[in-house]
Amino acid sequence: MENVIIFDHPLIQHKISIMRSKDTSCKEFRELVKEVTMFMSYESLRDLPLREVEVETPLMTCKTKVLAGPEMAVVPILRAGLGMVEGILELVPTAKVGHIGLYRDEVTMQPHEYYCKLPPNIGERQIIVTDPMLATGGSAVAAINFIKERGGKNIKFMCMIAAPQGIETLTKAHPDVTIYCAHLDEKLNDRCYILPGLGDAGDRIFGTK
Ligand code: PRP
Ligand code: URA
Repeated sequence: MENVIIFDHPLIQHKISIMRSKDTSCKEFRELVKEVTMFMSYESLRDLPLREVEVETPLMTCKTKVLAGPEMAVVPILRAGLGMVEGILELVPTAKVGHIGLYRDEVTMQPHEYYCKLPPNIGERQIIVTDPMLATGGSAVAAINFIKERGGKNIKFMCMIAAPQGIETLTKAHPDVTIYCAHLDEKLNDRCYILPGLGDAGDRIFGTK
């Protein structure tokens, strides 16, 4: 699928393997989420729009390029998506940050919205939705629905681990959204957790288990 990018870079695979281990600490896990997000961002932001400016070097004046406005918007899906925000801001410190609060009902697995606040002029911005886990795809589809209802158009989705079901559901619901994923895993278990996966990403980032 042309709008699904799975990263096969050795550094990303190495870091994902450390994240998977149940013996990796909360501190290390959080740092790895940030690092992997930085690596993925570098590639996934290669089409950010540029504008031409004139700069005087010590030798002469030249025309050169800088990022065009308005600044992009990073929109983490709470909670776990928050862990990926810093990795993007490290590369694009002027990005604005919106938030979408969703949790999966543990019985029905359906996403429930509890918060949504997006930067102004959202329709003019490049939007990166972040969530480490794309399992059934329900949360990602719901979050992108909310963003589109509020005017968002140019949307990318970035995650650490995806299940085939999540990729299928998200690409069907939002074929215009490119998915960037550090690793594609095998399947879901009967509680809709990704296998082999890395467990509950929110609990591992925030130490709430
Ligand atoms: C996790 C994860 C995703 C969602 C993925 O969040 O961070 O948002 O599940 O599952 P889905 O693709 O089947 O919708 P969770 O609901 O556990 O909330 P949390 O981030 O607050 O831990
Ligand atoms: N959410 C998680 O945090 N992990 C999974 O494996 C699935 C959903």
